[in-house]
Amino acid sequence: MYNIEVLNSELTKKLGTAFMTDYVRISLKDDPSKFCIMSQHFVDNYLEKIKNMEIFEDDVWVITFPKCGTTWTQEMVWMLGNNLDYETSMKIPLDDKFPFMECSGIAKEFPVDTFGMATNQPRPRYIKSHLPIFLLPDQLWTVKPKIIYVTRNPKDAAVSWYHHYRNMAMYKGTKADFIEAFSKDLVLFSPMNNHVIDFWNIRFQPNILFLFFEDMKRNLPQEVKKVMKFMDKNYSQDDIDKLCVHLSFDSIQKNKMINKEDTIQQISAMTGQEYNPQKYSFIRKGKIGGYKQELTITESDMLDEYIKKAEYEIEYKF
Ligand code: A3P
Repeated sequence: MYNIEVLNSELTKKLGTAFMTDYVRISLKDDPSKFCIMSQHFVDNYLEKIKNMEIFEDDVWVITFPKCGTTWTQEMVWMLGNNLDYETSMKIPLDDKFPFMECSGIAKEFPVDTFGMATNQPRPRYIKSHLPIFLLPDQLWTVKPKIIYVTRNPKDAAVSWYHHYRNMAMYKGTKADFIEAFSKDLVLFSPMNNHVIDFWNIRFQPNILFLFFEDMKRNLPQEVKKVMKFMDKNYSQDDIDKLCVHLSFDSIQKNKMINKEDTIQQISAMTGQEYNPQKYSFIRKGKIGGYKQELTITESDMLDEYIKKAEYEIEYKF
């Protein structure tokens, strides 16, 4: 069913992180245009398990390409689904309430089995994934639980992914190499374009809600209402206003249940890297167009070309 190609070009070698060096390209034998960059560890231990996972109608999934506002959306969705339970939200880390299903499939040394965490939750289960459609569980497309998909313009997503690579995975390479690899569909979970287009093409299915990071930034109450309706919930305007304060950048950045400070500290301890919250915060800048301050002209042009390749299929927002 799949072709697995081990990637070992000079550029891929430069993408090695403290947690992952075994890059592979998984593609569908029947349709090689469906491919995804993952690790050999994922192929050996998670690929089949995830494909065959049992799905329940009342599951709630948040699916994204990395760095498109996943965490922000997860907190919104969890709160809307759980009667705005601030007390539990502030007590239990988001990663425990809303596990990142394939996370332990990326890094061999990952200390917990996130697939087990995701599957063994009490129902309704809340599950985050970055996998493209062709690697997600088969039953998702027959059982049809609610899926909230979020995208963001690739220039901001690429820059955010670069910072994540450097600070959460201890990538030691340059920004130029990372952006080149992103534009060539070589970084983890690539290709972004295909990931987004495949969900865009099914956005009208009743169990799918397709959102843009940029809309959330420009009008959060409107997007919260959209998600509320999609989840068959009804809250007052006051409730929504309060939730939007809870979901604001400043509030999320300070929220220890969400901002992954503990994870970053653990990673620093594991890798011997200095822990400096002043230098990097997972909830980093949260801007539209932040890439303008960070990309060189060459890097920016490369990503423009990348976006152009998909221009007839998806219009990103800026
Ligand atoms: P930046 O690195 O550009 O700041 P993900 O959760 O998919 O990994 O996405 C992380 C990105 O979402 C980061 O982008 C982060 O700052 C941004 N983000 C998270 N919460 C946000 C919020 N409340 N408002 C705006 N951006 C937010």
